[in-house]
Amino acid sequence: MKMKITETVLRDAQQSLMATRMPQSDFEGALDLMDQAGYYAIECWGGATFDACLRYLSEDPWERLRTIKKHMKHTKLQMLLRGQNLLGYHHYSDDTVRRFVRAAVENGVDIIRIFDALNDLRNIRTAVEACNEAGGHAQGTICYTLSPIHDLELYVSLAKEIEEMGCASLCIKDMAGIMSPKECFDLVSAIKKAIKLPVFVHTHTTTGLAHMTYLKAAEAGADGIDTATACFSGGTSQPATQTMVYALEQMGISCGTDAAKLKEVNDFFTPVQKKFLADGTFDPYVLTTKTDVLTYQIPGGMLSNLVAQLKAQNAIDRLDEVLEETPRVRADLGYPPLVTPLSQMVGVQATVNVLLGQRYQNIGKEIKAYIHGEYGRAPGKLDETLMHKVLGDKAPIEGRYAETLEPEFPEAKKQLGSRAESDLDVLSYIAFPQQAEQYFAAREMRRAFVTPYSIEEVTE
Ligand code: CO
Repeated sequence: MKMKITETVLRDAQQSLMATRMPQSDFEGALDLMDQAGYYAIECWGGATFDACLRYLSEDPWERLRTIKKHMKHTKLQMLLRGQNLLGYHHYSDDTVRRFVRAAVENGVDIIRIFDALNDLRNIRTAVEACNEAGGHAQGTICYTLSPIHDLELYVSLAKEIEEMGCASLCIKDMAGIMSPKECFDLVSAIKKAIKLPVFVHTHTTTGLAHMTYLKAAEAGADGIDTATACFSGGTSQPATQTMVYALEQMGISCGTDAAKLKEVNDFFTPVQKKFLADGTFDPYVLTTKTDVLTYQIPGGMLSNLVAQLKAQNAIDRLDEVLEETPRVRADLGYPPLVTPLSQMVGVQATVNVLLGQRYQNIGKEIKAYIHGEYGRAPGKLDETLMHKVLGDKAPIEGRYAETLEPEFPEAKKQLGSRAESDLDVLSYIAFPQQAEQYFAAREMRRAFVTPYSIEEVTE
């Protein structure tokens, strides 16, 4: 038996532990080594990396991707993409999605893991098709959540749809780390029976279930798991690569990795981790096991957001009420999985409901758009009263929201004019307008500083 190992230190691990603040200069020296470690893939792009590059690190995300690619002779590169939302928080036009996906593959991405927060697979189809057209590997994704309507039957039907759509593999994505070993065994077994695609399991160590869950995934015949090098593992990140390989290989499951190289990779990243621990970017609190996540069924990141929100409002004593209100709001909205952007939307609405003392007295703009169908089809039925309150007698949109959107690229290109040095700049601008502008300005400044001046010019 074999298990494919995807290393996440460059994307999910550092995103989950330290808000994606690792600059390229901190990991560039490890890339050749990582390429020799025998990973099936390295997840290194997408998710929050794109935004973080522009917003906090003043890096060109496309350049980062090309640099990583240059060092990879044996290892596939993986990115995470939010379907029609790309890397942002609203839906983009099909034209933008196609251009973005093509550019990602052209600049070095091999595998695109594509998900929709609502598991509305109409919202991943354009990205899947564009990925296939560009010669990439499209990995269709099921967001794992628990609710009265999310049962094995529903998940298996999603898996079949993902196979029919032309995906090359399937991922079960447990963003909250709530999938138990038994649930994982049952789910992987059912999906493996129903479809032929390789199945990858993605989870987080948040609740302490992950190592057990991965073992049961292996027993059920999963083809791949996501892990993070030891010093960036645990807590809200993934189980350690070294630990999982050690355990699996004793069971006769070959991971294809080189133990000595895996140690070298970890030795490289250990001082990087120490640096971020020392400056507070990496708060060791994220490493503690949070079983409350199992009680409340709220992802760890969402829980800390709720706490931060309430502290800012001087209302931390209302936390218990908000934690009880959150699942009620989720039920009213037809049980969306609590993943970006739905986790934020549901959390804010629950907080507002509690703090104002009256439910839905004030309804967020995004929640209104959701109820209007702009995020896609809700998994379950929406609360009738709430729907009526938002829509009046109007009906929610039935079709795919992106079909109502005009192409964005030509207009963005015109707006940017000479500030865009390439079509990739235009795509960065469409994805994150303010952050991209800020990055372009910083780039200009840096160039001005490294351009050698003659004495005359300086003194004038
Ligand atoms: Co994740």
